[in-house]
Amino acid sequence: MPSPLSLDLSYIADLVSEQEIAALSPQVEAALKSLLEKTGRGSDYLGWIDLPFDAQKQLPALRKAAKAFDKCESVVSVGIGGSYLGIKSTIEALGGSDKIHYAGHHLSPTSFNKLLKSLNPKKTGIIVISKSGTTTEPAVAFRILKSWVEKAVGKKKAKARIAAVTDQAKGALKGMADAEGYATFVIPDDVGGRYSVLTPVGLLPIAAAGFDIAQLLKGAQDAAKAVKSTDLSANLSARYAAARYLLYKKGKVAEVLANFRPELHYVSEWWKQLYGESEGKEGKGLFPASVDLTTDLHSMGQYLQEGQRNLLETMLWVKDEDADVVIPKDKDDREGLNFLAGKKLSWVNEQAFKGTAVAHKDGGLPVIRLTLEDISEYTLGYLYYFFEMACGISGTLVGINPFDQPGVEAYKKNMFALLGKKGFENLAAELKAKGV
Ligand code: PA5
Repeated sequence: MPSPLSLDLSYIADLVSEQEIAALSPQVEAALKSLLEKTGRGSDYLGWIDLPFDAQKQLPALRKAAKAFDKCESVVSVGIGGSYLGIKSTIEALGGSDKIHYAGHHLSPTSFNKLLKSLNPKKTGIIVISKSGTTTEPAVAFRILKSWVEKAVGKKKAKARIAAVTDQAKGALKGMADAEGYATFVIPDDVGGRYSVLTPVGLLPIAAAGFDIAQLLKGAQDAAKAVKSTDLSANLSARYAAARYLLYKKGKVAEVLANFRPELHYVSEWWKQLYGESEGKEGKGLFPASVDLTTDLHSMGQYLQEGQRNLLETMLWVKDEDADVVIPKDKDDREGLNFLAGKKLSWVNEQAFKGTAVAHKDGGLPVIRLTLEDISEYTLGYLYYFFEMACGISGTLVGINPFDQPGVEAYKKNMFALLGKKGFENLAAELKAKGV
């Protein structure tokens, strides 16, 4: 099957030549090999590499567990970071779901109350997701939701509509799931949160929303076959990683992912976590940002066109739309739009994409262009894997461990100290002395 994704580096050719990419090839190949042979930094977190194939055997059990939620009117997916973004990204990109709701990704009581008011506890199921099983936001949200459902239907009935996705052995959630007898799925030890969308973390809620998880895996499998190739001229992940690394070495400090489809907003959020948490350490890495176009051309467009020239932009264009709209003719034509009468909105959007890309390039903002055939389970699976492999290669080129996240602990420790958690008394005293 031809690749549903293509990469165009012609708009950065004045900054990054094919010769430079070729000269970097030995390093890129070494980075790729260190991932495939599990010899580089963070090599105990490379379970995502074979995940599209490994997860295949779990499909029947996942479908069965997802089906159990058919009797629920709503399902709340509880999780944060890697236990939230891949789910939201996939479901939103595929058109959204009236059934799936989210909690545990914030600590706002206003939002929480709004959610509870919008749902019927007698008809709500819960999928609680936490690899560590100890993350505060989802743990608090789950406690509230669990007691809310139990109060409405009783403990026994509640149990039948709660599923947990967590570590196979450790963590408070695992202990609770075992004790309560919840349906439980495992996040493999060697897969980090931000690489976990193709584990039950993503697959269970996405299946519960009614989407085709086999196709999601199929797309990732095809990408995995393509981006493991050591023929770097044909390996899109390697080329993308090389291009963004060379731009980084030339002084770019941030990469802006730009999409032209509102449904892709959360794909960008997923991408930001993947690259931000993977590369942003030891004072290194491109800062990942995102814009939704053309919407943000009317807010961020000015900066992208003429602000500091230390950014690069990756534009994600999708070729096919699910449905189109034809612009009607108007006999009065007061707004002078009849020159567009009969044109499809997809064509207008495409001209905006082309025009913006060239304007940004001409304005000194290097533009990498990615084109995805359409938005489907298959192409999303392909895209996720493409970005994951590119991220592993990029992080290795940058010289950091792309698979840990030591920096996310700092805020947690302070928060625990301020919340009065046992074991954090000294830190609480330090914070008090600082006037916090
Ligand atoms: O990528 C990561 O490791 C993090 O973003 C985690 O996904 C996030 O902190 C949630 O962790 P957990 O699944 O352990 O609750």
